[in-house]
Amino acid sequence: MNTVDLIAKKRDGGTLSREEIEFWIAGTVDGTIPEYQSSALLMAIRLQGMDDEEAAMLTDVMAHSGSMFTPDDLGGFTVDKHSTGGVGDTTTLVLIPLLAAAGLTVGKLSGRALGHTGGTIDKLESIPGFRTDLPRDRFLQLVNETKLALADHTEDMVPADRILYELRDVTATVDSLPLIVASIMSKKIAGGAQAIVIDVKTGSGAFLPSLEASRKLAESLASIGSKLGRVMATLITDMSQPLGRMVGNALEVREAIDTLRGEGPTDLARLCCELGAELLLFSCISESRDGAIEHLDRLLRDGSALDKFRELVVNQDGNPAVIDDQYLLPRAARRVEARAEQAGVVRSLDALAIGRAANLLGAGRFTKEDSIDPAVGVELICKIGDRVEKNGLLAALHVNDETNLDTACQMVESAYEIDPTASEIVPPELVVDRIVSDW
Ligand code: URA
Ligand code: CA
Repeated sequence: MNTVDLIAKKRDGGTLSREEIEFWIAGTVDGTIPEYQSSALLMAIRLQGMDDEEAAMLTDVMAHSGSMFTPDDLGGFTVDKHSTGGVGDTTTLVLIPLLAAAGLTVGKLSGRALGHTGGTIDKLESIPGFRTDLPRDRFLQLVNETKLALADHTEDMVPADRILYELRDVTATVDSLPLIVASIMSKKIAGGAQAIVIDVKTGSGAFLPSLEASRKLAESLASIGSKLGRVMATLITDMSQPLGRMVGNALEVREAIDTLRGEGPTDLARLCCELGAELLLFSCISESRDGAIEHLDRLLRDGSALDKFRELVVNQDGNPAVIDDQYLLPRAARRVEARAEQAGVVRSLDALAIGRAANLLGAGRFTKEDSIDPAVGVELICKIGDRVEKNGLLAALHVNDETNLDTACQMVESAYEIDPTASEIVPPELVVDRIVSDW
């Protein structure tokens, strides 16, 4: 086989065979296919697309490009969740212990923050001592013995995605639907779970902001997952404003703990129950969606989910005292207030702007090598539908390094659109759509 022929075939709108995809991915991982040829092929895929069969093959071949977890490794039926990335989205920290409290087994691999969206691994690392770099054996032992583990992807899993993602990033080929789907789903397939719920965000803070693009992504993720034998539920959820009230790593851990105690913001709790409900239905723990949501809501209120979170923190060497004393989490030196220029009702709150402001304070990364400050971020006092007086408090910035403070503060203030004449504004629907596979 010859790489030039593969590039020409895709350039001219052809469909790659499994053997051709295997040849490309193997050559990418072992370095025998140079980056300029992979880049050309990526661009051809970006321009010509892939049909569903072809995208499913690419996903499967990428998933097999490194080490994987099988259901046997994980001790049987396991579930997983994934989010396409949002601002202030603490869902995983709440949902994973919540699912464990409901009796499901969860061994989840997560990622770090990149761009304006946060990463679960960075959030967890704001808990003193917490280990996210679990060796494969320890991860599997925890899943088998405690039904619960949450760790960073290991270097040896899905190496093809790491290599291709870096190339896509510098060749303007990130925004290709089949490449996005193969990237996301190959990691889910390699993770070994049989039932997967995916939260596709839509709105300004989402990876793909438009509803039309979000819907296409959701449909494609569900279709490719099903083709590869997974039971899939994909929810399209609102990311026009940030989720919950906290944006920033330790701040989101605090918010997750509040939510696990039944005292968190209602949108975050509700989203966790909506996502979790799909997995309870798949696992036959609940018979109806409403019943499942009620069950999960109870586990948030009666302390069961919080107990599981405590177990997770202890098992991964974190200090569980942070759960009862949030002053043990990293805290910023200053809390700077952002205030409203006029009275009115909040009509919109731009998630992207808030995410960028939090990053300017040091909560995120601009390049992969940047380090983050776990303590900093933005606390949203007002969200869509809230009334504010002139000079009233909109948000608070948690600040250490003040280099970008003025810019960040301005960004937060102008992220709010305040309607001076409205008497009431209804916040956007949280769950916009739901695609559930037959099973
Ligand atoms: N998330 C991923 O993991 N990969 C993509 O290509 C896009 C979002
Ligand atoms: Ca939040």
